[in-house]
Amino acid sequence: MSLYRNIVWFIKGMQEYTRGRYETASKSFVTKDLDVSVVGRSFMITGANSGIGKEAAMAIAKKGGTVHLVCRNKERAEAAREEIIRESGNTMIYVHLLDLSETRKVWEFAEAFKREHPTLNVLINNAGCMVNQRELTSDGLEKNFATNTLGVYVLTKCLIPLLEKSRDPRVITVSSGGMLVQQLNSADLQTERTAFDGTMVYAQNKRQQVVMTEVWAKAHPKIHFSVMHPGWADTAAVATAMPQFYQMMRDRLRTAEQGADTVVWLAVSSAAKATASGLFFQDRRVVPTHLPLAWTSSSQEEIQVFRGQLETLAMATRPTGYPANA
Ligand SMILES: NC(=O)c1ccc[n+]([C@@H]2O[C@H](COP(=O)([O-])OP(=O)(O)OC[C@H]3O[C@@H](n4cnc5c(N)ncnc54)[C@H](OP(=O)(O)O)[C@@H]3O)[C@@H](O)[C@H]2O)c1
Repeated sequence: MSLYRNIVWFIKGMQEYTRGRYETASKSFVTKDLDVSVVGRSFMITGANSGIGKEAAMAIAKKGGTVHLVCRNKERAEAAREEIIRESGNTMIYVHLLDLSETRKVWEFAEAFKREHPTLNVLINNAGCMVNQRELTSDGLEKNFATNTLGVYVLTKCLIPLLEKSRDPRVITVSSGGMLVQQLNSADLQTERTAFDGTMVYAQNKRQQVVMTEVWAKAHPKIHFSVMHPGWADTAAVATAMPQFYQMMRDRLRTAEQGADTVVWLAVSSAAKATASGLFFQDRRVVPTHLPLAWTSSSQEEIQVFRGQLETLAMATRPTGYPANA
């Protein structure tokens, strides 16, 4: 089954995820969807110092939004901030240092942000990684899972009360079409019992992001949740984590700006807001979350087990002293 899924996914990718496909799809984009001012609205973007996150930050800054860049490296973050201010003319661009794989710090960051900021209109969970060896964080968690799943879970969970207080709140999570080859597997969230394959661990995390988005959408109707695939874009992550794929595909990869297009559309447009909450997008359109005949759907029981495990792990890393409803 996994060979079938991988072959179908790769054929689909060659047809849909390349730059050529973006250029074709973009001919039917409605230009005025992005012709909006977001002055007075605030956006938090994780992993905003490079690639898709930086392009999304740049586009939103040009539309007048206040942008919180959440990054793990001070120099790279400050360089991105300076570039965004220089190119957009918008000075309301702020750097916050956070390594999303350090779950305890994610809690601390989100709680401090809530204390210091009266509103947050849009959270963009963009930071992601594909670590090809099994590494543990200081909390003892497998690094891909800690960054791509638990960090996203804790950050979003903590910020939901602030988002719910804010006008037209949205949460966008940058997943990957790679998730199509994986069925949710809550039995081994940290790859302790299965052979470690970084690409498949990443794809599993990206499936988990889709499931989390569906769960959040049902639980928090005041917020518009979406999850998306940017296509195959030429970024540092692809070049370093998947060098062979990068070499093979580099002439067909989208630019990071093209990869960011649907992120920006989901974050700012009225058209995106008009769609149902909890859906998966690609090139400004809702697309299926499963390949045909791939048997990747999950039962409600499996999803409940996954939710329970996330909550247990989140609570185990939560610093003491926060109010119960935080
Ligand atoms: N490019 C593609 O073809 C593609 C396809 C599907 C999905 N995606 C997704 O798109 C998102 C953005 O990736 P990208 O392609 O734009 O790659 P990128 O340019 O390498 O950007 C990734 C960003 O995530 C940050 N990051 C990684 N681990 C982090 C951590 N533990 N804490 C805080 N920040 C962290 C990186 O920071 P540093 O600069 O410090 O490393 C960087 O800013 C990811 O979620 C990725 O999975 C990309």
